[in-house]
Amino acid sequence: MFSRQKIEIAPEFSVLFVCLGNICRSPTAEGVFRAAVARAGLSKRIRVESAGLGSWHVGSPPDRRAIHAAAKRGYELAKLRGRQVDVEDFANFGWILAMDNSIMKALTALRPADYGGHLGLLLDFAPELGVRDVPDPYYGAPAGFDRVLDLVEVSTRGLLERIQPTLGN
Ligand code: 4NP
Repeated sequence: MFSRQKIEIAPEFSVLFVCLGNICRSPTAEGVFRAAVARAGLSKRIRVESAGLGSWHVGSPPDRRAIHAAAKRGYELAKLRGRQVDVEDFANFGWILAMDNSIMKALTALRPADYGGHLGLLLDFAPELGVRDVPDPYYGAPAGFDRVLDLVEVSTRGLLERIQPTLGN
């Protein structure tokens, strides 16, 4: 159920979350958004993936602290595996969402001139939060992973509210 979909879904309904390592923030966003999409009955219509800027954790599961914090809220991350973002992702994903401004800068540098999708900060889908960066919890205390979940739960709700009306029937 949590494996990445093999079915063909158009870029306009394909969402890629990007962080640095693809073991903390972006897999958390992937798991939380995937659960929201499933609750809305849209799993076959919206594609959800995550990737990292770096290659250190390619093929690895998410950080055990991220898995544990997410599991406490009912999200399963353990089956996800790290991958590195690729310029090809701009051809396949109409929504590329950076977890913080430094990621955003790097993705902006990678962005092909003809990219017609939305490249932006995830937290801009929840302006009421008053923050734009999801803090990197990797070197911090366990509470940092709960903070990531708090920010991601609210902002992915805003993201789904934006995409859902464009699906039609
Ligand atoms: P993430 O956190 O970008 O939220 O996955 C990090 C994970 C690993 C590293 C940096 C950030 N690292 O340097 O290995």
